[in-house]
Amino acid sequence: MSEPAKKTVLSGLRPTGRVHLGNYWGAVKNWVDLQDRYECRYFVADLHALTTDYADTSAIRESTLEAVTDWLSVGLDPEKAVVFVQSQVPQTAELALVFGMFTPLGWLERVPTYKEQLQELREKDLGTYGFLGYPVLMTADIALYRGHYVPVGKDQESHLEICREIVRRFNGLYGEVFPEPQALFTETPKVPGLDGRKMSKSYENTIALSDSADDVAKKVMSMVTDPRRARRSDPGNPDECNLFPFHRLYSSREECAEIDRGCRTAALGCVDCKKWLIRNMNAALEPVRAKRAEITAKPGYVREVLEEGGVKARALATETMKAVSGAMKLL
Ligand code: TRP
Repeated sequence: MSEPAKKTVLSGLRPTGRVHLGNYWGAVKNWVDLQDRYECRYFVADLHALTTDYADTSAIRESTLEAVTDWLSVGLDPEKAVVFVQSQVPQTAELALVFGMFTPLGWLERVPTYKEQLQELREKDLGTYGFLGYPVLMTADIALYRGHYVPVGKDQESHLEICREIVRRFNGLYGEVFPEPQALFTETPKVPGLDGRKMSKSYENTIALSDSADDVAKKVMSMVTDPRRARRSDPGNPDECNLFPFHRLYSSREECAEIDRGCRTAALGCVDCKKWLIRNMNAALEPVRAKRAEITAKPGYVREVLEEGGVKARALATETMKAVSGAMKLL
């Protein structure tokens, strides 16, 4: 089988709808940065969404299309990377079934996030085969495209470790078919939510890439700054302010230095500091909004991209499955 000249990068995100700044700085920006250097495959993990949301699938399709629209509007380029939806590649399920044959239950039961989520999401019955098998399915995603590097957040570390073990076991039993995937943890900046907790849709504290300039202004204005600055004349500490991490992302180094000084000496008020951020943030988001408008003006465009991505992904998957049945001596 032909090995691609460049190493392969593969990653997926569960469909959570509109991409917010936490998703962007934590994952999607990285994806865009990698697409010139590697053979990249990026997908919406809609089957993984089923592991927790099987009882209510009503949001998955819309969330998938919203997410991909945002990926494209920040510069993910379907000419450079294969962009697709997991469920459009049936070989994913086939390979997951094969991996399931020799994955010990103990490995799956020991994943820390497994036990945590069972506790946390108690309103959903997660005592299911599919939920326990989450990492098996994830291994199939990676192995199907022979991913070398998997850019993921630290929260996925234990999953990646199992993926490596499953791949190793396959290679040990049937011969070297798959590269051992490596996690690609890149330093990602801290992106707090509007309330200072982690930015997350479930906390309703997000700024979305697709928010209008007015939405951004309103949201930033509502943010709580350093509580020490009760009065305009009270000096503050940018390290304790929810706003400052955003200045680090959207304001220049010189501006950050000036803001830091202004905050510590009370020369700069919080309202002005916010207005400054709003200006810079909106300047950065304007081209994203413009691209998004261009994309949504073409009805069916995102679906077309996913159609084409699906064709490419299935071709890659077919090749891999040939190698799998060959190694396993199936017909
Ligand atoms: N588990 C990942 C998440 O929750 C999504 C995912 C599914 C994934 N399959 C993958 C990530 C394969 C990297 C590679 O974000």
